[in-house]
Amino acid sequence: MTHLIRSFEEYQAAYRRSVADPEGFWGEVASDFQWRRPWDRVLEWNFTEPAVKWFAGGKLNVTENCLDRHLAERGDQTAILWEPNDPEEHYRKFTYRELHAKVSQFAHVLRNNGVRKGDRVCLYLPMVPELAIAVLACARMGAIHSVVFGGFSAQSIADRIRDAGCSLVITADGGFRGSKEIPLKSVIDDALVQCPSVRKTIVLTRSRSPVSMIKGRDAWWEDEIKKVETMGNPDFPAEEMDAEDPLFILYTSGSTGKPKGVVHTGAGYLVYAHYTFVNVFGYQPGEVHFCTADIGWITGHSYILYGPLAAGATTLLFEGVPTWPDAGRLWEVVQKYRVNILYTAPTAIRSLMGFGLEYVQGKDLSSLTKLGSVGEPINEEAWHWFDEHIGGGRCPIVDTWWQTETGGIMISPIAGVTPTKPGYATLPLPGVQPLLVDENGREIEGNGVSGNLCLRFPWPGMIRTTYGDHERCRLNYFATYPNLYFTGDGCLRDQDGYYRITGRVDDVLNVSGHRIGTAEVENAINLYTDVVESAVVGYPHGVKGQGIYAYVVCINHQRDEDLTRRDIAATVTRAIGAIARPDKIQFVTGLPKTRSGKIMRRILRKIAEGETTDLGDTSTLLDPAVVEEIRAGVLVTKGG
Ligand code: PRX
Repeated sequence: MTHLIRSFEEYQAAYRRSVADPEGFWGEVASDFQWRRPWDRVLEWNFTEPAVKWFAGGKLNVTENCLDRHLAERGDQTAILWEPNDPEEHYRKFTYRELHAKVSQFAHVLRNNGVRKGDRVCLYLPMVPELAIAVLACARMGAIHSVVFGGFSAQSIADRIRDAGCSLVITADGGFRGSKEIPLKSVIDDALVQCPSVRKTIVLTRSRSPVSMIKGRDAWWEDEIKKVETMGNPDFPAEEMDAEDPLFILYTSGSTGKPKGVVHTGAGYLVYAHYTFVNVFGYQPGEVHFCTADIGWITGHSYILYGPLAAGATTLLFEGVPTWPDAGRLWEVVQKYRVNILYTAPTAIRSLMGFGLEYVQGKDLSSLTKLGSVGEPINEEAWHWFDEHIGGGRCPIVDTWWQTETGGIMISPIAGVTPTKPGYATLPLPGVQPLLVDENGREIEGNGVSGNLCLRFPWPGMIRTTYGDHERCRLNYFATYPNLYFTGDGCLRDQDGYYRITGRVDDVLNVSGHRIGTAEVENAINLYTDVVESAVVGYPHGVKGQGIYAYVVCINHQRDEDLTRRDIAATVTRAIGAIARPDKIQFVTGLPKTRSGKIMRRILRKIAEGETTDLGDTSTLLDPAVVEEIRAGVLVTKGG
């Protein structure tokens, strides 16, 4: 690997070069890839529209780089290892050659079902190898994939399908997660009632539970594969794509009620996912990489699929959950496959810590060489537990800060190279130019300072637009501070120049590493028949990082409060999915508002955090009595 950083001096040199000569730097990194046609220019950009183009004029196909180019050298090496939910079920594995054949085959299935280059395809599947195959088949034929996490409700899926105008949906009869079975096809059936753009669905057999199949619309995955086999399994030559053609859409929450379809394009995203994967994890050929995320999130896209496959690594796909059949499951998986790199989330670490060391003891974790953390700030206690009990004190931990919008890791140690500090994402990777600004957008220079985290220069993996609404992309990310990308995160830069992410500064929650907009949850709560209005804030939660705290004004005070809480939670689950269920619901008779009618969330946040005395400035409140009532009520509020 030509661009592997091996020492801190090499990191510093690469960083300096990436700032002084970004085009030279990224042009060199990108030259490792297989291009059908070289680019005319490495970078064209402005942050005002915004308009960012990487490798403009270049032609390539992402799957040619993730599959075809590995065939000669490592065709028989394992590309994907799959561990099923049930440890009693047999595992599966695919070599690069096998994966290439499967992807080719499924690209034919897509074409046979009317999918063309540029069409949008929605994937709602469990964590099975077929999900990886379907994602890559879309990329091979130039369709834009939109993977929706298996925990979202029919309503959420319908919103995403309609926003992207998907013409085809790929799902399964059902999926397994721990002791639960998720009726995926049935959820899709409910969603499709509202989705006239969908002409076809392809249904994989996984759970063997009964499902409805509608003539002309629904087809079995296995039957469609047979049709390609009868054609003699012809190869599916990778479609030649423009560097800036969209590769995928991934929906994520913002501060408005409606999730945004973040658009990533092929070449820049691939280059960035690959570069960050090999460098941050110090990937060595032959290593087994285990990222515990779901492919329904950006972490799964970049560090289960595209990054590792571009590097020719062996990537492990796990269908289950860390706590089933017991809290030793992850460590069993590590032992079984001799995992080298383990990349997981602080919430998983905290939850497993709570079960005690008996689930770790006796597991052979000696294969581990590097550990990673992502999704939320990692507290020191979890960091040390991970370091000592999982890494055996010998594995560097990389605390990687990034976002759906950044496509890949931005601020992070380089394993074994950057000196780490618990709780710190440490330093920006080459090509990443962070700065801190105050509320007025003035840069805060020097060390030992805090501010809002922005980025001043493009990087290849960055968001290009929000699907169907470019203005929304501009307003959300590029309008708060002129000529800067605003991350939405608060950040501290310490005396050593190390970065520590302190959390969101907008109305977005981070619950178990999942982003949830407070407005989305409020909209869902407000659907409930008796609700007049509501306000949602986050509060510190021992396992989830942040919990969801809802203040709700109801008209009917006669009804049993606990029953109403459960019904409100069920309404949110139906509208968004179980991940957005409030942890606590407090009924109030009014919300603290300013004279202009704006809810004073700052006060609600403080009360939810358990602060009942110092609420800051309350002089602009319309009705201070409301605060008194809420403050008194918090003491009697039970869990929702
Ligand atoms: O607040 C930051 C937090 O997660 C947000 C991005 O969420 P999402 O787009 O869902 O992507 C998660 C996986 C990349 C960020 O704005 N976040 C992510 N990583 C870290 C983090 N906060 C602190 N430390 C991290 N390492």
